[in-house]
Amino acid sequence: MTATIALVLVGAIPVSVICAAPEREDLNDDLLIGQSLADMLLAGETVISREQDRINDPKLGEKGLGGAALIERAREIYRKATGVDPSTIDPNTRHGRLLRVQMDAIVEVMDANQTTINAKGTGFKGFIPAVFARLVNEAFARRAKGEAEVKVTGPPDRVRNRKARPDIWETTIIKSKLLTPSWPHDQAYSAAVETDGRPAFRVMVPQYYDETCLACHGSPKGEVDITGYPKEGAKLDELGGVISIILYR
Ligand code: HEC
Repeated sequence: MTATIALVLVGAIPVSVICAAPEREDLNDDLLIGQSLADMLLAGETVISREQDRINDPKLGEKGLGGAALIERAREIYRKATGVDPSTIDPNTRHGRLLRVQMDAIVEVMDANQTTINAKGTGFKGFIPAVFARLVNEAFARRAKGEAEVKVTGPPDRVRNRKARPDIWETTIIKSKLLTPSWPHDQAYSAAVETDGRPAFRVMVPQYYDETCLACHGSPKGEVDITGYPKEGAKLDELGGVISIILYR
């Protein structure tokens, strides 16, 4: 599940960057952080996806999916996917700190949505992986206080929620890199780019549709899915979304 990582630098590489070892290490660190935040978000989404039928069951009350329970399972999925136990990542590093901020955001979102998740008598509650991810990313942005942002976006014709629309840079990378037939499957794109007037490092982690996604995003195109949105007519393994991470410097 872990995406292959490759560091892609846009344009000519300034000689100073080639020579300055610490600078290169910074960039590699930032790429690792971005990939790690994407892996943890996906781990949380995977738990929601596996529990979707139980969440949607109108006869079930308490689901046992409070923040503490969910983060334990996400931690295990992350560990299997990356080979690293998140608790072993030094909290005094930027990586360890931001990953903990994100895990706290996951706990916050699950605890805040217990009434919805445990409601008896309601089948579909609208609590699906994409909604979970959006709420976690909003909580993360608040907690990270302008140091970092995580967003789930995608190709413009695949985006449902206005808030998920790609910005100009994301649109360019999606079209010129991630959607091109030669782009290696699962490979992240990353670059140092000024964002909102601030120096930043950005990582774009591609996500592809699997069978479970097609119930809502697949065919027939235009047919309304369980969430009330028209299906996009997407096919297996097509680029469905991108986890976009901004690390401000
Ligand atoms: C139960 C139906 C359903 C399933 C299954 C589903 N999605 Fe979605 N997806 C949605 C809805 C609804 C939204 C909009 C969520 C919101 O309001 O923010 C969405 C949003 C998204 C987004 C964010 C962009 C946006 O428009 O907000 C991505 C990316 C995405 N889905 C990809 C996937 C992938 C990949 C899978 C499979 C792993 C998947 N979806 C499975 C219904 C679904």
